[in-house]
Amino acid sequence: MLNFEEPSAKQPAAGTNSMDIHGTHRVNVVDKRVINGTTDVNQLVPFKHKWAWEKYLAQCANHWMPQEVNMQRDIEQWKTGQLSEDEMRIVKRNLGFFVTADSLAANNIVLGTYRQITSPECRQFLLRQAFDEAIHTHAYQYIVESLGLDEGEVFNAYHEIKSIRDKDEFLIPFIDVLTDPSFKTGTLENDQKLLRSLIVFACIMEGLFFYVGFVQILALGRQNKMTGAAEQYQYILRDESMHCNFGIDLINTVKMENPQLWTESFKADITQLFKVAVELEYAYAEDTMPRGVLGLNASMFKEYLRFIANRRMQQIGLEPLFPGVTNPFPWMSEMIDLKKEKNFFETRVTEYQTGGALSWD
Ligand SMILES: [Fe+2]
Ligand SMILES: [Fe+2]
Repeated sequence: MLNFEEPSAKQPAAGTNSMDIHGTHRVNVVDKRVINGTTDVNQLVPFKHKWAWEKYLAQCANHWMPQEVNMQRDIEQWKTGQLSEDEMRIVKRNLGFFVTADSLAANNIVLGTYRQITSPECRQFLLRQAFDEAIHTHAYQYIVESLGLDEGEVFNAYHEIKSIRDKDEFLIPFIDVLTDPSFKTGTLENDQKLLRSLIVFACIMEGLFFYVGFVQILALGRQNKMTGAAEQYQYILRDESMHCNFGIDLINTVKMENPQLWTESFKADITQLFKVAVELEYAYAEDTMPRGVLGLNASMFKEYLRFIANRRMQQIGLEPLFPGVTNPFPWMSEMIDLKKEKNFFETRVTEYQTGGALSWD
């Protein structure tokens, strides 16, 4: 939930960026802003964007590492021909997209978004998120290595496979806006550029472009195939769903603090982006599964992508593009909620202990 307080009379501005050792004024909570703030970014408290701090704590409690998941059964299944050609195609395409996607995500945070965000609570989450993205790249690399896949083929898929390249080419201009060293917020035009990039990153990249892949690998796991990879994906899905929820709160807070950005033409522009994104992700679904496989077929994904796009649009206050669609994969919500289905695929060697108090006994 957002915790937004009304701004009061503006206090004299403290330092604007990384180090406010010369400022004489203490941080006044009402002056804190997600973008274009003038309060000291090194002072986490007093909290204003408490939702970001709470998500940071929740995400730390979700910590996991790829090498804790046993890949032995996957390796046997992969190497002894227990998967069909179509199932192997799904796995390879999936890794082809994800081995570079989470690196793009990490670069977007570290080299782009982070320096534009002036709320230390939000920065704290972004730091954790950046580490999560490193863990995800590690997890995909670990699967590639375990299965002995051709690394050149997998890591170059985003150049060489059209359905993957098209998704990345859609995303990259929105990342480039923020990673341009001369980009600065503070004008209506640039603040809208930032907001647009935040929406594309959270709602389209993490919130839509990951989902065909997640459904496919988790569907394999539900049929007792590639259960190690499926378990890794389940942890990644939980992380991404938190990243997406954080991004949505971030977007909605930027909107609340800067209502002038949310113009009719801006909304129309974002709606159009969702439309193109659904088409690109559907083309990817068709390419990864030219025939029905695992009880899934591409047309089920058309419905699913429309369902997700509607949800993301509603979450940021836009009219949904596809009224009346329903979720063809209701089991995906159980997958996101790991508490309900702890150790679903039973591949984990150890139970990970996090989030609890340290024991000194
Ligand atoms: Fe990720
Ligand atoms: Fe992410």
